[in-house]
Amino acid sequence: MPSSLPTILPTRRLLIDGGWVEPRSERTFASINPATGDVIADVAEADATDVDLAVRAARRALDVGPWRRMTGAQRGRLLQKLADLVEAHAEEFVALEALDAGKPIAASRRQHLPASIDCLNYYAGWADKITGDVVPTRSAALTYTSRQPVGVVAAIVPWNFPLMNAVWKIAPALTCGCAVVLKPAELTPLSALRLGELALEAGFPPGVLNILPGFGPVAGQALIEHPGIDKISFTGSPQVGKHIMGIAAKRCTKVTLELGGKSPNIVFADADLDAAAHAAASGIFFNGGQVCSAGSRILVQNSRYDEMVERLVARAQRIRLGDPFAPGTTMGPLISRLQQERVVGHIERGRASGARVVCGGKAADRPGYFVEPTIFADADSAMSIARDEIFGPVATMIRFEDEAEAVRLANDSAYSLAAGLWTRDVARAHRVADALRAGTVWINTFGPTDTRLPWGGMGGDSGLGRDLGRSAIDNYTEQKAVWLNLAIA
Ligand code: NAI
Ligand code: MG
Repeated sequence: MPSSLPTILPTRRLLIDGGWVEPRSERTFASINPATGDVIADVAEADATDVDLAVRAARRALDVGPWRRMTGAQRGRLLQKLADLVEAHAEEFVALEALDAGKPIAASRRQHLPASIDCLNYYAGWADKITGDVVPTRSAALTYTSRQPVGVVAAIVPWNFPLMNAVWKIAPALTCGCAVVLKPAELTPLSALRLGELALEAGFPPGVLNILPGFGPVAGQALIEHPGIDKISFTGSPQVGKHIMGIAAKRCTKVTLELGGKSPNIVFADADLDAAAHAAASGIFFNGGQVCSAGSRILVQNSRYDEMVERLVARAQRIRLGDPFAPGTTMGPLISRLQQERVVGHIERGRASGARVVCGGKAADRPGYFVEPTIFADADSAMSIARDEIFGPVATMIRFEDEAEAVRLANDSAYSLAAGLWTRDVARAHRVADALRAGTVWINTFGPTDTRLPWGGMGGDSGLGRDLGRSAIDNYTEQKAVWLNLAIA
């Protein structure tokens, strides 16, 4: 396993105003390899002073810099260059995410990198297509709308898909002409720093993209409280999301909050069980279950329940836990010792509540923060393992009798991000999709996302607003209505 950085990264610097600068405090923190527990690098730690410098630089980029005067086509070309650079350096990102986040290289090559590059390409294409309307009114005036960048965006992202989470915020914000201050997660700062280097190489003007590794309560808190921020775009825990919304309320700062999930995956008796088991296994075990939309509640109709448990266990037993750099590894470690302890705690509570562990059930006996793929059978909807987001490789299998009960159980949750259902009955498929309280519904599939489709929750602990697709253009622009009185020469 490579133990050192695959590239010479400016890990002891922050990206502020187009250059790499030392944090004013000169403080650093250790970034850890979760597969071994070893320190990979000392990383610059931003604090409130650095945040203030970055926000001011972003404001200048908007007010006086060349950024504001660039055409959409010019912004699109810069984003396209960044997309091409990330693609050209994809293997470096694969290695950085394996080292810093424990992501298996096979999964990064298949999903994480292509999705990130696609997102950059897609929003590069939007830059010169953000238009307004001419809207006839009751007056004789010429009345039209235009869209302007919302301003300085604070992007605060988590550690589960470090590069992709950052790109999901940065790409639409930049295509709309905003300036961004990005705070990557303290557990996974490295890929964001490499992205910053490539953004400079692509030629983004100073201040347009600032990158500040640091801790949530210090750099993150300073960022959300800064009066120069016009929009906060956050992905992470419900707890921090609600805290951010409270702070944002003081100034009426706009927020988009992509928070957690406890996504139901409903298997009706008429489903293609083999396909359902395959998708349900990757739905919960992909990325070690550290996915906001993980299919962590598997609801199965009574008559096929035992069969489905058997099939899922067989799939789980085939998972290869191990070194993220080994091509055959299908599951890496969890992100941190703390996350491993949290997940094991959830498993212990599940056992204590009377659910039956049919697979896994403990931390793996090896260095690093691994947890065995775990399946609970005979669970019910009141148990903590059916209610709390575990964010680990833990599936909770629940029985249901009929369609009405399936919908009731599926919607009995504080979360509302995503849901899946398996049936060959097309009318039922649409009926249940309509009834599910979820921002995304997968029918006879589970887990795919695409840059072109909106992504987000229907409130509660899944948050509000939508990332991706056309929706993200709304997030990062303001509409302006313009009246021109044609009667005055
Ligand atoms: P977290 O919500 O603390 O971290 C996410 C980001 O928020 C990080 O960049 C962090 O530095 C920042 N942050 C923390 N406190 C902040 C503050 N006061 N002001 C501004 N920014 C702040 O999540 P954590 O502790 O890493 O994970 C805890 C749980 O959250 C997980 O077990 C999982 O259930 C959930 N989670 C959900 C994610 C999702 O994709 N929706 C991603 C990561 C975690
Ligand atoms: Mg790390």
